[in-house]
Amino acid sequence: MVNTYVDVGIQSRMNKIICPKDNRTVMLAIDHPYFQGPTSGLRDMSKTIQMLMPYCDCLMTTRGAVRHNIPVEYMGSKPIMLRVSGGNSVLFEELSDEQITVSIKEAVRMDCAGVAVSVFIGSSNQQRTILNLTDMINEAEDYGMPVLAVTAVGKAMARDLRYLAFASRICQDAGARMVKTYYCEEFDKLIKACAPTPVVMAGGKHTSPPEAIEMAFKAVQAGAVGVDMGRNIFQDENPLGMIKAIRAVVHDNKNPQEAMEVYKSCAGEACKLE
Ligand code: 5RP
Repeated sequence: MVNTYVDVGIQSRMNKIICPKDNRTVMLAIDHPYFQGPTSGLRDMSKTIQMLMPYCDCLMTTRGAVRHNIPVEYMGSKPIMLRVSGGNSVLFEELSDEQITVSIKEAVRMDCAGVAVSVFIGSSNQQRTILNLTDMINEAEDYGMPVLAVTAVGKAMARDLRYLAFASRICQDAGARMVKTYYCEEFDKLIKACAPTPVVMAGGKHTSPPEAIEMAFKAVQAGAVGVDMGRNIFQDENPLGMIKAIRAVVHDNKNPQEAMEVYKSCAGEACKLE
């Protein structure tokens, strides 16, 4: 049955985040300093943004980065997915102790396309982080603002299908309009467990270009709408090559070998970010 009711505000923002022509997205995640402080590749965040922003579809970042690191002439050029949960740092072993840190009004005022909240399923703060998500969804829906649920994985949690599909499905049922999770074997089963909610793959720690490209390729082939990737792009020695290669996989359906050619073709411009 065709759903004739469309929530115009939500849909219009979703269309900014996920390109309607191919239902895919390359989101650049540069929110890491919210709990890591100075982060390799983001120490001069303005430079990182100027280099990579033109090649992403959406920038996932923080209030501070939007205010201080996006050059004025770039503002409004790409949709912003604003991180609105936090309250902890890597100085504490237990990272799950988060609350909502940015109001929905601030996100609207900043002309954001969506807001992102982390949930830590299975952690000692599971309930609080799920309620962070549902409270934000309750408010954000009133403003036509989609909420992205980020399935954060505690050190003790296995990044396997059983856990990630479980966490992702809980986020979908909470009402998240998008889910971000890590790649795992049989990723297609996770996508099915969340369908029709769009899923983007987080990159995880910096590995190597062939590994990261292969992982993005497999995620998209399994049904992910794209990636929300950070360290494997901005910590690479050839960040421009990486983001262009990831775009080739996500938007041009290139295979990993073809994407590596894209990566290598940018080697001349390679410039490691501080
Ligand atoms: C942290 C996040 C990060 O944005 C996420 O980890 C994506 O970045 P990376 O590809 O570096 O893992 O949401 O909770």
